[in-house]
Amino acid sequence: MCGQQCEDPSGLLIVVEGIDGSGKSTQIHLLHRWLLSEGYKVFFSEWNSSPLVKGTTKLGKKRKTLTPSTFSLFHATDFADRTEHQIIPALKAGAIVLADRYQFTAFARDAARGVPRAWVRNLYGFSQKADLAFYFRVPLEVSLERILTGRAQLKYYEAGMDIGLSDDIRESFKLFQSRILNEYDAMVDEFGLTVIDGTGTIEEQQAQMRQIVSDYLSEHEGVRRDSRRGGNGQIPVLR
Ligand SMILES: Nc1ncnc2c1ncn2[C@@H]1O[C@H](COP(=O)(O)OP(=O)(O)OP(=O)(O)O)[C@@H](O)[C@H]1O
Ligand SMILES: [Mg+2]
Repeated sequence: MCGQQCEDPSGLLIVVEGIDGSGKSTQIHLLHRWLLSEGYKVFFSEWNSSPLVKGTTKLGKKRKTLTPSTFSLFHATDFADRTEHQIIPALKAGAIVLADRYQFTAFARDAARGVPRAWVRNLYGFSQKADLAFYFRVPLEVSLERILTGRAQLKYYEAGMDIGLSDDIRESFKLFQSRILNEYDAMVDEFGLTVIDGTGTIEEQQAQMRQIVSDYLSEHEGVRRDSRRGGNGQIPVLR
């Protein structure tokens, strides 16, 4: 890892954020395919995917033993592991790194669980600054409908059942996710998030994303050049 942050990585870090079911994964996968087709070397990293803590987090969730602070710390460990072993090396190698959820997920969720905002922001002080952070904003009802169309039930932690907002899981989901939504909305100015209306069609949203990324790449010729595949374009990281 290059110090606290990679001061001048040759790559580009693009992240997607938003409440559950807001369409983040759909959009970042389409962006991924497009960037590859344009000839860029791309590395994808997903929230809570580090082999170091993934199993333990899963166990803690299954046994419902995670508290707001241990929940926060496990996810921060996952994030640190991926930052050091995946994200920074890929950026240094000139890749475009796509992250499905980034530190803003922790800022929003942990604060919604009552963890002090300043404490969580400080915890993530080591993170690499995102070049573009997209926030897919959708109303709660849209999120709930999309999630329940895809599967039968809400999950205990995504509904915030661990903090006892309501015994009814749907009601708890609404209360918890509305807190998260408020946290995201408050972060738009604080961190300069790029807001996309997540209620638009998949195609409309993807067209906006591609335009914003294209404009960014045009303004940063260095990234455009270094991120092209070919030459020494191998990314020295493991998935
Ligand atoms: N613009 C859209 N209009 C209608 N349905 C959509 C739209 N975008 C995504 N969906 C659908 O909504 C569901 C959730 O989308 P997706 O998995 O991309 O959300 P997500 O933000 O990644 O959710 P999570 O936080 O749970 O990972 C999927 O079934 C997807 O096909
Ligand atoms: Mg997703």
